[in-house]
This record gives sequence, C-alpha cells and structure tokens, in this order.
Amino acid sequence: MSSHSSIAHQIEQLRAELREHNYRYYVLDNPSVPDAEYDRLFRQLQQLEREHPELITADSPTQRVGDRPLDEFAEVQHRVPMLSLDNVFNEEELIAFDRRVRERLETEDEIEYVCEPKLDGLAVSVRYEHGVLVQGATRGDGQTGEDITQNIRTIHSLPLKLHGSGYPATLEVRGEVFMPKAGFDEMNRRAAEKGEKVFVNPRNAAAGSLRQLDPRMTAQRPLDMYVYGIGHVEGGALTDTHFGNLQLLKQWGLRINPETRLAVGAKALQQYHDDMLARRNALAYEIDGIVYKVNAIKLQKELGFVSRAPRWATAHKFPAQEEMTRLLDVEFQVGRTGAITPVARLEPVFVGGVTVSNATLHNMDEVARMDVRVGDTVIIHRAGDVIPKVAKVVLEKRPAHAQPVQLPTHCPVCGSDIIKPEGEAVARCSGGLYCPAQVKEAIKHFASRKAMDVEGLGDKLVEQLVDLGLIAHVSDLYKLTVDQVAAMERMGQKSAQNLIDALEKSKHTTLPRFLFALGIREVGEATALTLAQHFGTLENIRNASEEQLQEAPDIGPVVASRIVAFFQQSHNLDIIRALQAAGVHWTEQEPTARETGALSGKTYVLTGTLTKLTRDEAKDYLQQLGAKVAGSVSKNTDAVVAGEKAGSKLAKAESLGVAIIDEDSFIQLLNAHGIEV
Ligand code: IVH
Repeated sequence: MSSHSSIAHQIEQLRAELREHNYRYYVLDNPSVPDAEYDRLFRQLQQLEREHPELITADSPTQRVGDRPLDEFAEVQHRVPMLSLDNVFNEEELIAFDRRVRERLETEDEIEYVCEPKLDGLAVSVRYEHGVLVQGATRGDGQTGEDITQNIRTIHSLPLKLHGSGYPATLEVRGEVFMPKAGFDEMNRRAAEKGEKVFVNPRNAAAGSLRQLDPRMTAQRPLDMYVYGIGHVEGGALTDTHFGNLQLLKQWGLRINPETRLAVGAKALQQYHDDMLARRNALAYEIDGIVYKVNAIKLQKELGFVSRAPRWATAHKFPAQEEMTRLLDVEFQVGRTGAITPVARLEPVFVGGVTVSNATLHNMDEVARMDVRVGDTVIIHRAGDVIPKVAKVVLEKRPAHAQPVQLPTHCPVCGSDIIKPEGEAVARCSGGLYCPAQVKEAIKHFASRKAMDVEGLGDKLVEQLVDLGLIAHVSDLYKLTVDQVAAMERMGQKSAQNLIDALEKSKHTTLPRFLFALGIREVGEATALTLAQHFGTLENIRNASEEQLQEAPDIGPVVASRIVAFFQQSHNLDIIRALQAAGVHWTEQEPTARETGALSGKTYVLTGTLTKLTRDEAKDYLQQLGAKVAGSVSKNTDAVVAGEKAGSKLAKAESLGVAIIDEDSFIQLLNAHGIEV
C-alpha cells in the first residue's frame, strides 16, 4: 500500500472526489456532503502532497493560490477578439433591434433569443487545454489583454480541471468575474474599520482584485464568476445553439448564470427584462442590464459583426445606480436616539430611477475618511429602496473654494451640546426627550408597523402634531381627540376618526411589540422578542439586574446596561404608566414561552396571502406559542402555513415533504391553544 504508485492513485482519487464535490456545490448548487467532510478530504490531500511534493500537479484543487507575486502582467493576444455590445435603453429600441435582426435574416418569423443578466464585473477569457486550466486573461482592448492566470485560479467556482468528458482539446471560455454584494459590503466594512481605502462599488472592487500582482491578495477577495460564451475552440465540436453550448459548459463544470432563459420574440424579451429589473435588488450580485443573444449559431454567423459588436446580440441597460453631482451643503439631522447624521444636499440628479437631492453621509468618521467638502463633485449611489449615499468624492473636480465639513457643537434642533465619545463614530445630541427632533423620531418609531402599528400615523403627521404642541410624548397620542386632529391641515373629519380608531386598536398589543416600541437603545425587534419570551412580563424585565438580563439568550453586557439604564429613568417609567393607564395592554405570558410554549421547538414558515389575519399577526401568535418563525423552508421546517397564491416556498415544502396547513386549519390550531382570531 505504501508503494509510490498506490500513493499516486490515492492522491488522484482524492482530487477526483474533491472536484466532484466542487461541481455539485458550485455548478449544480446541490452539495452532497457537509463542508466539514470536504475540508477533511482537502486536508488529507494537502497532507499527502506535502509528503510527496513530486506528485503535485497544477490542476490539483490544493493549488489555487500561488505564492510568488508577479513584477508585471504579460500580454495575451486573443485568438478570437473579445467584442463589446451595442445598447438599447427602452422597449422601442429593443423592438428596433429585433426588427433589424429579422430584416437582415429576411424572415417574418419570431426569433429565438437567449436572455442573460448583464453582470457588472469584468470580462475575462479562460483557456483549457485537454481540460486543464492553462490561461486566464482580461479583455483589455479586445485584441490584447493581460495574463491574469494566477489570479483567475483563486476563484473557487472556476474549475482548474473540467468535469466529465467530451470537451474540445482547446476550449477558451468567456465570462464575467464579479464580486457578490454581500462579500463587497463585508470587505468594505472591514477596510473602513481599519481606516483603509474602501471601494465605490463591487465592479471596481472586482477590477482592483484582479489587478493584484500578488495572487495571495486576490485569493482573499470574494470573487466569483459566471461563464456566458465561447472563444477559440479546437479539436472538438459544440452544439448548434448558444443555449445548447451553455448547457455543455455547465456539464463540463463551468458555472452559467441560473437566470439564463430562452425567449421568443421582442415581447418576451421585454417581459424578461421587466422581471429581472423588478428582482434586481434581490439578486446576490449587481447587474446593469440584460443581454439578448440570437440562439441559433447559424443565424449568428449570418448576422455577423459591425465594427466591434455583434449584430446578433445587444445589451438592454437598466437605469444607472450611480451618478455624479455637486454637493451644495451638508446639514445635520437628529435621530431617535440623538444620533447626529450628516446629510448631503445635492444638485438634483437622476439615479437608480428617481431624482435624488439628499443623500446620507452616515457619520463624521465617514465624512473625514472621504474628505468630502461642500462644493465637491461627488458620486451618488442609489440601489433599490435603500437611502442614497455619497460613495466617493471626485477629487480631480474639487474647486478651490471647497469648504471642509465641521460637526456643529450644538444640536441644530434644540441647541443642547453635541457629544462625540472618544473612539465612537456617532455624535449625539445630549438633549434626550427635551429635543423635539428626538421626540418626533421616538413617536414615529412607536407608531411604526413593527411596533404599535398605528395605521395612518405617518411621519408628516407626527411632525405636525409635535410642532402644533398637541403631543410631546408617545403617551400623549392616546389623549388626542377627533376634533383636535380634524382641525389640522389637510385632515377631514373622516380621516381624523380613522386615526383615533387606529390608535384605539393599537392599544391591544403584545409585549414584544410594546418593548420594541419603547425605543430602548440596542433593543430591536428580535431582542424585544427574546426578552419577552425569557422574562414573560414587563415587571420581570424592569426588575432584572444586568446579570439576570444577560441570562437571556443573545443578551450581552451592552444591551443589558442599556435596558437597566432605560428603566432607571423616572420619566420613562412615567410614560409606561401613562400608556397603561390609557389602556395599552397585552396578554402576559409565562416566562420562556420558547421553552415551554405549546409550539416550542417548532419552526414555522408563512407564505402566500392570508385573508383573516395579517402576516405580522400570524407571526406574533406563533411566537407567543413559542414557535420560531423562519423566512425560508428547509428540512428543519416543521410546518408551512400557506395562504392564497403561495409560490416557491409551498413548492419547496412539498418537495421536502414538510407539513402544509391552510389558513383555516391554522386558525383552528391557534384557537386550540387559546388564541382567538
Ligand atoms: S456577451 C459578443 N454576456 O458586457 C458578446 N457580456 O458590453 C460579448 N457582460 O465586455 C459579450 N454580462 O463584460 C455578454 N451575459 C453576458 C454579459 C456580458 C456582462 C459584459 C462583458 C462585456 C460587456 C459588453
């Protein structure tokens, strides 16, 4: 067994096994072993290779990260030029593109296209010889790129050796290297923490990472890759469609984007575009549009190229999520806990589909890090519904008169001292509930959906109520009368009555909601729930010491001290008493419902539309009974409550054999445990 050839055999077997696991994990998205098992095999291979360095090959799964930095990147001539794409920006231009394709092909028939997300990263070319990765190159100018083989090898989802068999002797594939959003955020968070340079967007981060001369640096960056095309091929045959070729690439272990679809005719292309645009922000990576490609290779050849772009493909661009504009001023806003946030006032700019004239600058550390000055030209980033932010200063455009930003010494709203503790990023107004800005924010939070859920009490209304002196504390809300509210601007008798009714309804609440609504620092929705479940009653929480609080799951010393500090303030206790006197109430639970509740230890998932109660109510009730409510279905789910139009979660539950109950049975279940709906 110790003979050299049997060791070689063992090593090859381990490699084959690891490659198969990689294939299942990255390409099929269906791993067959836990990570720990993979790690064990990997270490076993490393050990054998350490003992027999003469048996190490470049395509071994252990050989991803080289240990020698390059002096510079060598040039690579592309055998087949790497083209770019023409763009269309709306449906009209898309229809015109499709019409041109059909005119050129002299056909009235609808054309079949492949639709792919247009990843916002970097185009690369990767060459395999006899299934072994031998070269990676950037696009460069399309003719000549840079040899980034060392760096491309560090991307774990890219196989060093192709899977299966039947691949051409030479196979050059093309695709996009990108950085997933989560990895980007995490990398930037760490860099900011250490005071290092942060990247403006995942694309720049991916580009910077591929341009590292030291592959050990690249290996630390969360890069990923999808393959979307083929370059030079020799000694082997492919299929006669682009889609067919993508399936082949997938069989050979290369990752293709799972959102790739076939679609026939311009209408279907527009439909795909609209669907992806709606889902853009939910994707794990940034995309800046859609690419449509004529599916039949024969037709592609007939269509050919104009200058440097194919006639058989086009990019349908999404609205940009980044634009440049000028910083007109910086103002300071006061949050619920007194946190002072610098806010950029901007020359209005159209970005991410809306006109933006304000953007957050987060805090003074961030202002200092970017060295942002009034008068600067800045890059604004707006993705989805998130608050637009100033991502970067364009230093080259800084005017001579640009003014540095200074933290004010006094609260712009109440004039109290602003305090910025040493080592903390956040400056705060020391005015507490004396500060109208903090009062307004506290009331908005109190009324919000996940707190007391006072329907119709929006931000504007809260501001008016405070400005008019009608309310100064959350407890004053319950003293409002219909006449008072009706007398306000843009308020009729009817909407006033609705608000008072909503306030009345909100009085019947739950302890977790009430705790969350109080706005204790560091006590979010989850912590409020934990506290309620562990201690059962408000009384118990109020009387708990810091040590006792920390006995509850996930409560650390900081949170515990905030809770104790909150209940030490007599004005907070006054407000709680006033709220209870006004009729705010909830059912007190036995402590640790999570351990002793009728559904403790069970995990539920809610899906579809419920008709007799809201999702939030359903969640509250389940939690009252000690159940955990999860967002997605897995084999650990005990039951799925499926309302109308339930979709993928229901399907997943069915495929996993998880119990499914409809709304009526769910309500019966609640009734059986003493909850009346
Ligand atoms: S195909 C001949 N497909 O977009 C076709 N490109 O503007 C050439 N890109 O340089 C490209 N996702 O970096 C293609 N699914 C996709 C793509 C894609 C992103 C990028 C690529 C290319 C640029 C063209």
